[in-house]
Amino acid sequence: MNIKSFVAIPIVSVLCLGLWAGCSSPKPKSPVAQAQSPVPPQAQPQPPPSPLVKTNRLVIHADQPGAEISRNIYGQFSEHLGHCIYGGIWVGEDSPIPNTRGIRNDVVAALKKIQVPVLRWPGGCFADEYHWMDGIGTPTNRPSMINTHWGGVVENNHFGTHEFLDFCDQIGAAPYVSGNLGSGTVQEMMEWVEYMTSDADSPMANLRRQNGREQPWKIPYFAVGNESWGCGGNMTPEFYADNFRRYDTFIKNYGGDKIYRIACGASDSNYNWTEVLMKNAGRQMNGLSLHYYTLPSGHWSGKKGSATEFNEADWFNTLQHALVMDEIVTKHSAIMDKYDPQKKIGLIVDEWGAWYDVEPGTNPGFLYQQNTLRDALVAGVTLNIFNNHADRVKMANIAQMINVLQAMILTDNEKMTVTPSYWVFDMDTVHHDATLLPMDLQSVDYAFGDKTIPAVSASASRDQAGKIHVTLCNLNPNQSVEVPCELQGAKAGKISGRVLTAPEMNAHNTFDRPDHVKPAEFNTFKVTDDGFITTLPAKSVVVLEVE
Ligand code: AHR
Repeated sequence: MNIKSFVAIPIVSVLCLGLWAGCSSPKPKSPVAQAQSPVPPQAQPQPPPSPLVKTNRLVIHADQPGAEISRNIYGQFSEHLGHCIYGGIWVGEDSPIPNTRGIRNDVVAALKKIQVPVLRWPGGCFADEYHWMDGIGTPTNRPSMINTHWGGVVENNHFGTHEFLDFCDQIGAAPYVSGNLGSGTVQEMMEWVEYMTSDADSPMANLRRQNGREQPWKIPYFAVGNESWGCGGNMTPEFYADNFRRYDTFIKNYGGDKIYRIACGASDSNYNWTEVLMKNAGRQMNGLSLHYYTLPSGHWSGKKGSATEFNEADWFNTLQHALVMDEIVTKHSAIMDKYDPQKKIGLIVDEWGAWYDVEPGTNPGFLYQQNTLRDALVAGVTLNIFNNHADRVKMANIAQMINVLQAMILTDNEKMTVTPSYWVFDMDTVHHDATLLPMDLQSVDYAFGDKTIPAVSASASRDQAGKIHVTLCNLNPNQSVEVPCELQGAKAGKISGRVLTAPEMNAHNTFDRPDHVKPAEFNTFKVTDDGFITTLPAKSVVVLEVE
């Protein structure tokens, strides 16, 4: 595990993004005014304090359709880390746990329900030490390796290319493969792509056939390295950009399918990385990645905080840090806009989520953490942010799918439970490939101590059947909030809804109580002359369907 360079971002600007009156950013002074100002800096007049927002107000511009919300925003990430792959997905054909070709049936059924659109694999940091040829052929003949990043455990390579692509087929997800740039050769990466996607009578395609797969697979998404500024090789952006250009040159498109090439992007607020990559390699890439994790403490050194044992200060801080995603995406997007004003290159947030201390007694290298209602709110607000940036964010992959970090599913041998985060992905399937509806949101504050964040987060879309869906989160764990919504260009007829909430902030599902946190029918809303009005329970995620 590498220590991240987490940079604290001033929260004040986050509160202003996409929000209304009461939160307008102060206009920068013109250079002339600054030069002529006779007032010493410390005595310069301050902008008047923002008027206190006393009521919520939401206006959805249903008459101004925005970008399509790519279903890939609801993507997932699976790494050879802890029990994500082994135990979580793969149990082997001889396991007493019901499986299809070694892959757990219960996990597949749960994931099909949330319509996972795309799955990233094999890492993460693991990807840059993974040699794909070790993961093909008769499983017992496959060489082992040490998983140096994640607990130093022996990786037997029984889950390799064929097993991953079978898993993607079983759950109906598009594969997103991360290539090894850190410790692999150009030839190795080139041959992997040939092995998976070529239909020719060629050495790699024939090797695939020998291993039991006649038809090539479609690999729509391929990344060239992971966190190359850190665990992927500690490179400078200039050095990585040159390497991306070189490796990418040898990734060939076979059979008329075009691979979407994703370059390693920045972490957090490393805007220089994005600048250099766009400038030096923008012409060759289809997507540029971004990683941002939410930590209650906000820093990587020392304790991050427990996943379940927390108080309101931790709840507040976690959500405050989750909201920073808006500022980070906005600023990286602005740099991309300079080089790519037509927004052809996607911002691919291929690692995000809450990162806590591991559960007591578990291997620190396995990153196993419980998942509570707080995580459901982290998921709800983050997915709202991605929806609202759908013009640039073309994919996101929560870290990680099973048993690692902010997981959808937890397993323990034959036992399985889905998490509160899973339910948010379930409720939000309505936004997959729907058209974003722009909105103006004025939110009351949720105050804790002397700090505040907006209590309400929202996003809205219209699906192909013409139905409008609105995801609303109430971050305040103590008070319900009333949200009047004006629907411009549409009329609310019938409304229905689902809500995810619980009495306690740290409510979570266990193997003995797997249904403790799950969505319920929601009907606290009323149609009004210009839209509707709804009351969101404290600490809740609500999805409304407006017909
Ligand atoms: O998701 C866990 C790890 O976090 C990934 O392997 C790495 O890319 C990031 O540092």
